[in-house]
Amino acid sequence: MPLSSNPIALDRLADPSSRVRVAAARIGQGLFARGPFDVGEPILKLAGRVVNYEVLWERGGRFLDNCIRFGPETYLDPGDGVGRYVNHSCEPNAAIHKWRNQLFLIAARRIRRGNELVFDYSTTIGDDDIWTMRCDCGAHDCRKRIKRFGSLAPELQRRYREQGLVPKYILETLR
Ligand SMILES: C[S@@+](CC[C@H](N)C(=O)[O-])C[C@H]1O[C@@H](n2cnc3c(N)ncnc32)[C@H](O)[C@@H]1O
Ligand SMILES: [Zn+2]
Repeated sequence: MPLSSNPIALDRLADPSSRVRVAAARIGQGLFARGPFDVGEPILKLAGRVVNYEVLWERGGRFLDNCIRFGPETYLDPGDGVGRYVNHSCEPNAAIHKWRNQLFLIAARRIRRGNELVFDYSTTIGDDDIWTMRCDCGAHDCRKRIKRFGSLAPELQRRYREQGLVPKYILETLR
């Protein structure tokens, strides 16, 4: 469901407390659904500060790990917001969607109350990004190492694209 036709008021998405909670997860802290979400339903607006890629190079470490690609040369620093707790899974139930120059976490599948919210980090890693991560998501088809979107198997790339789970600015980095 496109955000523009979704009946949920955007200001409710900006206040995540009624929709998600942070709790212990398989991997450190994670973000969990407080209610059910339908496929395509926006879950929350990812708040934070948009920074240039040079800031990531300068600060590196945990700061870099928590940032989410925002545009051709920019990243969203979620700061201490709930957006910094979304873990990766190779079997995701959520995705990142950019709308009106803001990032949202949306449901990629039907999500039940209590489910951990996870997205596939590769859908937000451009082909010009060099960041990689060892994966311990536990999924049957875990890829073990998470890399740029263009490194995914063609069939998986096609499925994510068809489902509208890859931001346009990531597709534009494909070689
Ligand atoms: C945005 S944070 C997610 C919150 C994190 N679990 C915490 O407690 O701070 C991203 C970091 O969590 C870890 N992480 C997330 N998903 C992972 C996964 N599937 N396998 C291994 N580490 C993961 C990595 O260290 C990654 O850099
Ligand atoms: Zn995995």
